[in-house]
Amino acid sequence: MLLQLAALLTLTAVICATSAPTSSERRLAQPSWHKYVRSPPSLDVRPAKILDSYTVGNVHNPEGFLSGGRPTVLTRNSTDREHPTIVIDFGQNVAGVLKIQFAGSHNRTQGLPGLRIAFAETLEFLKNRSDFTRSDNAGGSEKITNGTDQIAVKNEAYTWKDLHGCQFGRQVCSDGLHGFRYVKIWLDALPEDAPYTSPVGSISISSVTLEWSAYLGTPDTFTGWFECSNEKLTQWWYDGVYTVDLGTDLFLANETEPRDASSPSLEGKQVLFDGAKRDRDPYVGDLAVASLTSYLSHDFAESTRNVLEDLALHQRADGWIPPASINNYTLPLFDYPLWWVVCSVDYTMYTGDVSYTKKYWAVLRKVLDGYYPKYMDGSSGLLVKSAELGYGDYAFLPRSGPITYYNALYVYALRYASTLAETFGWTDDVQRWLPHAEAIGMAVRQHNFDTKVNAFYDGGPCPKGQTGSYCDVHSQDGNSLAILAGITDKNTSAQILNYWSKVAKRPYGNAFYDSSVLSPDNQFADRVYAFISYFELRARLTTPGTSNSGFDEISRLYGWMSSHDPGITMWEGIGPSGSAYQGAFTSMAHGWSTGIVPLLSNHVLGVTPLAPGFRNWKICPLLDFGDVSWARGQVPTPYGNLEVSWAKHEHDQGVSLIISAPRRTKGIVCVPRSGQQDLVIRVNGTRVSTDAVPESQFGAQETISVFHLGEGAHNVTFSPE
Ligand SMILES: *[C@@H]1O[C@H](CO)[C@@H](O)[C@H](O)[C@H]1NC(C)=O
Ligand SMILES: *[C@@H]1O[C@H](CO)[C@@H](O)[C@H](O)[C@H]1NC(C)=O
Ligand SMILES: *[C@@H]1O[C@H](CO)[C@@H](O)[C@H](O)[C@H]1NC(C)=O
Ligand SMILES: *[C@@H]1O[C@H](CO)[C@@H](O)[C@H](O)[C@H]1NC(C)=O
Ligand SMILES: *[C@@H]1O[C@H](CO)[C@@H](O)[C@H](O)[C@H]1NC(C)=O
Ligand SMILES: *[C@@H]1O[C@H](CO)[C@@H](O)[C@H](O)[C@H]1NC(C)=O
Ligand SMILES: *[C@@H]1O[C@H](CO)[C@@H](O)[C@H](O)[C@H]1NC(C)=O
Ligand SMILES: *[C@@H]1O[C@H](CO)[C@@H](O)[C@H](O)[C@H]1NC(C)=O
Ligand SMILES: *[C@@H]1O[C@H](CO)[C@@H](O)[C@H](O)[C@H]1NC(C)=O
Repeated sequence: MLLQLAALLTLTAVICATSAPTSSERRLAQPSWHKYVRSPPSLDVRPAKILDSYTVGNVHNPEGFLSGGRPTVLTRNSTDREHPTIVIDFGQNVAGVLKIQFAGSHNRTQGLPGLRIAFAETLEFLKNRSDFTRSDNAGGSEKITNGTDQIAVKNEAYTWKDLHGCQFGRQVCSDGLHGFRYVKIWLDALPEDAPYTSPVGSISISSVTLEWSAYLGTPDTFTGWFECSNEKLTQWWYDGVYTVDLGTDLFLANETEPRDASSPSLEGKQVLFDGAKRDRDPYVGDLAVASLTSYLSHDFAESTRNVLEDLALHQRADGWIPPASINNYTLPLFDYPLWWVVCSVDYTMYTGDVSYTKKYWAVLRKVLDGYYPKYMDGSSGLLVKSAELGYGDYAFLPRSGPITYYNALYVYALRYASTLAETFGWTDDVQRWLPHAEAIGMAVRQHNFDTKVNAFYDGGPCPKGQTGSYCDVHSQDGNSLAILAGITDKNTSAQILNYWSKVAKRPYGNAFYDSSVLSPDNQFADRVYAFISYFELRARLTTPGTSNSGFDEISRLYGWMSSHDPGITMWEGIGPSGSAYQGAFTSMAHGWSTGIVPLLSNHVLGVTPLAPGFRNWKICPLLDFGDVSWARGQVPTPYGNLEVSWAKHEHDQGVSLIISAPRRTKGIVCVPRSGQQDLVIRVNGTRVSTDAVPESQFGAQETISVFHLGEGAHNVTFSPE
């Protein structure tokens, strides 16, 4: 039997080691996944290079500041000369405070020579102002710049830090923290900064660095990791982690969203922001993906707990939970209270922090039993959002009517909360929620399904010229969530996903609408959100026969983002022709787009929690996924690490699966569905029999055969009869 042993080598190496390795052996034995990690090595981040073709005017020794050699000197002797300019590339998106070490400056008249600075995530939007800066979202006294940061460079040697504020009263101001890849620096002065700065003179720069502000995810911080035979997929897992790292930071009033988001109850706490450069405010829908990435990589849950807890404490009397602190906790989104429920259950499942669950269970009940039931329509049995309510959702869509997405997400939240309630023995909740979920699911199937195309209608409102509640529009969110919520059977799920492949496939992912009628200007049928695509992808990875279409979609979506500027980090949204969907404003590092991390860990490696803290787990490796022939990795749990490594044998000759489960945990393993033939399953050589688990098992579309395993190491083989 020819084994593809690569995947098994690490575990075997550990098992076979007979003597302690020397330090050089340890270096050699550095885990192979370390090379994929994107984090800078330390909090002081150095630029990668200067972009020569962007250098303008009198710049002496332009590379000097990079090497620590002679300073780079920008000189402008008169205002009819070009502005001496350099552009620095940090090589990848970064977040923090820029630091410039000056060797000094010269001015022959009054006013210190001025420097202006513009930041950008992409070269396309590297202009004479930042692609986005904090003041762009600010009004009144919070607005301190017009798009560039300013410095009046002193005549002596010193280090300047880009702190938020002004050098002189309300003049010569800087916005402080930035998320960016490129930075443009030029000698100039704003008229409104007179008499403090002068547009002529000379400035000597000894070094430029970034003081890293976010989570520094060096290899030693990874308590979870992933690797597989497909190097691109593997790299994207680490790129996703890096994207979330960039948004994991302290909540500080001077570094966050200025639109009334600053909050005493968050100040100084670790949180998970939506984006690195923009949306520096934690929104709970985004956490439905970003937090999973956080748990699965660094097991860093504090940032999520702080956010969930803060939002729970701001629950409105009617049960509604604000999506974020912005607008003093009043931004009206209709779906985010449900995402708070989903995230709270995820949090408990991944961390085992039962105290959180007990403390906020009443809040959760009030969302599910108090807020949404008010919007149930008695005659159809559907959740109906009235147009007058005026609430939006994750994409700020002005949808109203019996929207499939809201209904499916409600069912999903009810069922997911029930699985958690069940582990606590809170059967009253389960007995209330499951029938409610079942009834809504039935109503969705009965009223919202479009048999012409075999997919659910979006639900409304109708564009001009169409009447009735249901218009000829279908959306990715409702259809994907309906599948994951168990509203559809396997066949319907596959039909929906086939329809979606047919109409929504773009070179940069799958679009979130099959029509642009709801917003012709925004070309919805060409817009891709990696965020909501995560749910479609999860549906593809768990519906029989559709996993390879998921591989294809991942290749287009993540392939596109990784091969376009700024590279590595994952974008907030993708527009027509694969553009940044909101131009310069778009965040090119948005944690909600990192679904690749949970998709690979939860589905390709196959590890998911079934009870708080993985006390019960499920290991269902996805063996039919593109060209992936082996995968291995680790999932951190409060009981210890759960390690899994699987490899397909050549010529369909079975599969090896090595599992190492923490003490005091147990779980189930799914028998792979490779072909229809019966498989012989052996655990450490002993043949085991399986139980059939019905489809009703939440989240699994598959009728699977499973067997049970306990703690410790297990050597499982599946081979044909
Ligand atoms: C700028 O002025 C300085 C001082 O007068 C002089 O040494 C230098 O040659 C001038 N540089 C240019 C480019 O004109
Ligand atoms: C340079 O500008 C500073 C600040 O305005 C001023 O104090 C200094 O005298 C100027 N230097 C010369 C040589 O004019
Ligand atoms: C940026 O400013 C420079 C002068 O410093 C000017 O030559 C150039 O045209 C400006 N670029 C844009 C895009 O406005
Ligand atoms: C922005 O530019 C306008 C026009 O030059 C100026 O009046 C205003 O003071 C500037 N605002 C800030 C915050 O720099
Ligand atoms: C924001 O304020 C804190 C003190 O509250 C300070 O430590 C930090 O450096 C400031 N950040 C910026 C970018 O100015
Ligand atoms: C925010 O809202 C709370 C509660 O309504 C209120 O007490 C507080 O003053 C508001 N804060 C600001 C800054 O408006
Ligand atoms: C699902 O499809 C299969 C194959 O096309 C068919 O045999 C089966 O009856 C269908 N099941 C349902 C519930 O429609
Ligand atoms: C099963 O195999 C694994 C891996 O070889 C080994 O570590 C473990 O001790 C074995 N378990 C038993 C009960 O023999
Ligand atoms: C697992 O079992 C297979 C087949 O018995 C054996 O070839 C392999 O070496 C074992 N792996 C480990 C890690 O024990």
